[in-house]
Amino acid sequence: MKVDVKSRAEIDRMREACRMSAEIRDICAAAVAPGVTTGEIDALVVDYCEKHHVRAGFYDYHGYPGHLCVSINDEVIHGIPSPHRVIVPGDLVKTDVGIFKNGFNGDTSRTVAVGVTDPEVLRLVETTKACLKAGIAACGPGVHLGDVGYAIEQVAVAAGFGVVRNWIGHGVGRTIHEDPEVPNYGKPGTKLVLRPGMTIAIEPMITMTKAGEATDVLSDGWTVVTRDRSLSAHFEHTVAITDDGCEILTLPADYP
Ligand code: MF3
Ligand code: CO
Ligand code: CO
Repeated sequence: MKVDVKSRAEIDRMREACRMSAEIRDICAAAVAPGVTTGEIDALVVDYCEKHHVRAGFYDYHGYPGHLCVSINDEVIHGIPSPHRVIVPGDLVKTDVGIFKNGFNGDTSRTVAVGVTDPEVLRLVETTKACLKAGIAACGPGVHLGDVGYAIEQVAVAAGFGVVRNWIGHGVGRTIHEDPEVPNYGKPGTKLVLRPGMTIAIEPMITMTKAGEATDVLSDGWTVVTRDRSLSAHFEHTVAITDDGCEILTLPADYP
């Protein structure tokens, strides 16, 4: 395992890609509404990239055909945008997007509940957000990745939800996916020790049911779904380890 440790100057460059990733993430999330197609969300990313002279990091990554991933309901991650997929009331829509600029990538995702009133579904969304917060709160120099995964898993388990096992967070930087692996579960005191300058994507994928922890890939070769077709939520931030903790690189610009 070769984990890239970035200089302060490199983190500064990556901060820009991450700031833009956060901006387009929130543009996409705000556009999610009944009647909108996921293809229209994809077009927003294309427009943003043209306007700002940047690249959509996911496009053509291992042949991926979209400019972001839009995954709905039982789709966990890697949903391919399509002009035929119309968002309807009650949908749980995950918009996952990354911008490539100055040699670096961002990677960030949000879940939007479209006209959802079922309190269990809303609790799933809030719990997934809390999982991401707990993972980030655990991060810092000297911390093991097992500690981070454990912190995330505890929040999900306490709420009675499942944690996807075979898709995980990852190092991110010059490439979208790099070492180390960042699972959303773990054992304290195990795995890699974090150091200042490491940049990782933390991305809990939490499922309504325990059986939903197991996933399949659809015949399109990309879309990951829960095996029992239960709902899944997903939040993701790109985070840099600092001398005294960590910095979330994909916060919205107006975050207080
Ligand atoms: N955003 C995904 C992640 O969080 C990676 C998407 S790459 C793609 O790891 F090719 F599937 F789009
Ligand atoms: Co992502
Ligand atoms: Co990611």
